[in-house]
Amino acid sequence: MGYNPTVNKSLVTVAAGYAMAVGLLWPREASPHIPVTTTVLFNREIVTLFQSKCLQCHITGGMAMSLATYEEARPWAVAIKEEILDRRMPPWPAERGYGEFANDLGLTTRERDFLLSWIDGGAPKGDSEPPAYMDHSTHWMLGTPDVLLTAEPAAIVEPGRPVGFKRIIMDTAMTQERWLRAFDYKPANPGIVRAAFFTLLESGQYLGAWTPWRTTMQIPDDVGIRIPSRARIAIDVVYQSVSELVVDAPRLGLYFAAARPAHELATTVLKPQQPASTTDAFAPRLTANIVLPSDTSIVEMRPDMGPGGRSIEVKAKRPDGSSQVLLWIRNFRQEWQTSYVFQRPVTLPKGSIVQAIAYFDSVRRSPAQFTLTFSSHEAAPGSFTSAFGPRPPVPGR
Ligand code: HEC
Repeated sequence: MGYNPTVNKSLVTVAAGYAMAVGLLWPREASPHIPVTTTVLFNREIVTLFQSKCLQCHITGGMAMSLATYEEARPWAVAIKEEILDRRMPPWPAERGYGEFANDLGLTTRERDFLLSWIDGGAPKGDSEPPAYMDHSTHWMLGTPDVLLTAEPAAIVEPGRPVGFKRIIMDTAMTQERWLRAFDYKPANPGIVRAAFFTLLESGQYLGAWTPWRTTMQIPDDVGIRIPSRARIAIDVVYQSVSELVVDAPRLGLYFAAARPAHELATTVLKPQQPASTTDAFAPRLTANIVLPSDTSIVEMRPDMGPGGRSIEVKAKRPDGSSQVLLWIRNFRQEWQTSYVFQRPVTLPKGSIVQAIAYFDSVRRSPAQFTLTFSSHEAAPGSFTSAFGPRPPVPGR
């Protein structure tokens, strides 16, 4: 079961979409005859859960072993239990209950209970026909792009290299400024791409992110990102490690607003003033913050921690003294990064403080450093909501 990473293929896999990961994945020994003591069935509840939170990667030709059918998934039952109890899978490190995210991949308590009940109860299959899996990654989800960009030259991913970043540049070659509303990214080999982060090369303006489970970026109506003429887009791609050379020639579809939108999305990058050196205190704690100069709606956030980064928490403190955790990552994982897109933008009044607090391992190869990038726009005064729902107006304000 699983797959054989030493399988023989041509040296260069172009657009094949299934470069093999380095590292062995083998099913754990499952107990042979557990009596069935659960009503949860693979072909009913479990297949639906796997389709929404696992098959983006666990599919034939994908990044890891297929969990699409009962026969493929059953031998992994014990391993799945370990992964979900240790919260390694699915790879969504944000703590549940702090902030609500549109791209949340974490298991809900109910999903987790279903999965554990299915595994502990003998992992039954069920007789019904499982629903078919829709893979939307090949067509343009938002319609034909206004502008279609390709990478020249394509990215080359060498075998044996650890999971890590590579930068691709795409030239918009636009002769006038336009307002970006959305994008759709198509790696030629989705099976080797863990994440991609998009910025304007010249200004550092953050555009958004791609992950296997959220392959398009769309910003709220009436908000746009100004793309100046001649702008170039830098794409920082996190590639999986591969066992043979892969050429990735991705495509990027851009969607523009017809006219200048009401609000412009801006980028803020928070960074601690002084990185802690490798010889600094045991388990250093670094903070960075900003006082918001105007009423602000935060749309998405991207924490990025250097090697040794352990945990990061983002808080908002309002001028009335109330505070709220916007994001908490207890176990940051450099190899599984994402952007955190709020379900509804978090609107904070002028004078609020956005603060990031990060902790690092005591033993590090390089100085402790992190950045928190967030996208926001000016908010209409008095329209304060929070990540947890509307907030009553503050008396006397
Ligand atoms: C974004 C991609 C992605 C998603 C989504 C994902 N996985 Fe994984 N999974 C991986 C990769 C890649 C590995 C290989 C180990 C690694 O590199 O971390 C893996 C490894 C595993 C393993 C461990 C295999 C071993 O070596 O024992 C299990 C079990 C697993 N995943 C189960 C799941 C389940 C169940 C879900 C959904 C609830 C899920 N994964 C969602 C990418 C993903």
